[in-house]
Amino acid sequence: LNVNPTIVVIFGGTGDLNLRKLAPALYNLYADGYMPEKYAIIGTARRPLTDEKFRENLMDGVNQFSRSGKVKQEKWNKFAENVIYNSVDVETPESFGLLKKSIEKLQKEFGPKTQVIYYLAVAPNLFPLIAKCLSDYGLAGNEDNCRIVIEKPFGRDLETAKELNCILTGIFTEKQIYRIDHYLGKETVQNIMAFRFANSFLEPLWNRTYIDHIQISVTEQLGVGDRGGYYESAGALRDMIQNHLLQLLCLIGMETPINFDADEIRNKKVDVLKAMRPFSPEDIRFSTVRGQYTKGWVEGKEVPGYRHETGVDPNSNTETFAAIKFFVDNWRWQGIPFYVRTGKRLFQTSSLITIQFKDVPHHIFPSGVTEHWQQNRLIISIQPEMSIRLQVQGKRPGLDMVLNPVDMVFDYKGTYSSDTPEAYETLLLDVMTGDQTQFMRADQVEAAWELLMPVINAWESKKSLSFPNYTADSWGPEDAEALIARDGFHWFALPLNKE
Ligand code: BG6
Repeated sequence: LNVNPTIVVIFGGTGDLNLRKLAPALYNLYADGYMPEKYAIIGTARRPLTDEKFRENLMDGVNQFSRSGKVKQEKWNKFAENVIYNSVDVETPESFGLLKKSIEKLQKEFGPKTQVIYYLAVAPNLFPLIAKCLSDYGLAGNEDNCRIVIEKPFGRDLETAKELNCILTGIFTEKQIYRIDHYLGKETVQNIMAFRFANSFLEPLWNRTYIDHIQISVTEQLGVGDRGGYYESAGALRDMIQNHLLQLLCLIGMETPINFDADEIRNKKVDVLKAMRPFSPEDIRFSTVRGQYTKGWVEGKEVPGYRHETGVDPNSNTETFAAIKFFVDNWRWQGIPFYVRTGKRLFQTSSLITIQFKDVPHHIFPSGVTEHWQQNRLIISIQPEMSIRLQVQGKRPGLDMVLNPVDMVFDYKGTYSSDTPEAYETLLLDVMTGDQTQFMRADQVEAAWELLMPVINAWESKKSLSFPNYTADSWGPEDAEALIARDGFHWFALPLNKE
């Protein structure tokens, strides 16, 4: 890869994110020939560890979590030669001295063009502290040689997001800041832009004249697991809708960019957020639903309700499910509902975007000919199935004229033989090559918070009296069905095999 020598410093080096996602991604990039010729990875965390032990831990992580399975030992050894560990206690700023020494030593070895990437895979309350220490120790560099990657959550609300942006932009320029939303690194999510803007047949139909409504549904079978502590202060709205789901909505709703420049694309996406209809108290009552799971059975095992998960308040009012009806008030989308739902401990793990087209203007077929009438639907399946389906009416073969809906399917498995990279591989490579397209700009994050603040405030001020309100392994609270059924639709799900 033709990229300047690169030093990746991972804060939170011994943490879950590094073991599960970052280390496997970096190793896979290396194995596939995508790491710069000269690179070093410095893991940092509070506890003392030898380089050797750190490498061992990482290898365990990679062996367990990498998409490509266990490492090839020889390859791993080569990769790991460039991995070191520094004990840095971010709450004791002096320990940045050691880190500075390591970085300077590598910079000397790699030459003047070396770039440094700081990856903050730590608790969000440490973001400002680390940024400040980097600045105090003269490690914040400039646009040519230094970038900082910030994991989510980016703030807890509009105010804290603004504060964090203010701190970061006081130290780094916007071009140096990479705010991660890992959904944007998913292959099937990146394909939305390709599908919309590299094909000519779609654009004339992609508007309020032909589209009936849109659904974005990201459902998970898993519960909160051992993340109860974090999740208590987040909930489904902050954890998923503020970032991942609104980003998907932007990709579906955006106008055609002039070119593929990062800022051009981000401008078009933020325009969608700015056009979204602000919530009135009335909208919050009728267009939003929240839920919390109670115990149930998942694949023959009893699972606890949310309030009994580790780290969760037994009287918690945190939502583990949210469904919202949004509108985008512009010429393209006026009056077209975007239904969005997400939740934990639901019946199926799947991320689907369904675009339902309007019915034909006039039915020419006599009743009885149509076995099951279905308006055209385009279904973008992000995961676990990776596909795009167009559901159309067709004639069933036979002597009688009988119509039924059939799927025209593009599926990744059948079309491409190679393995698709993980989101974090794509995103880490983007950071190394300096491409900000798939990262959140300050104004995008703030616009998303601004839109949701009335809902957050209303939900927090009015504790739900009916929690918990859905059983684990169900499709969520009944009110979520009512939200969409009132408009004459229902939530769409692919008949996927349960994972
Ligand atoms: C994370 C959320 O951002 O995304 C998690 O914090 C969620 O709660 C996860 O489970 C879902 O990501 P994916 O890639 O598994 O769909």
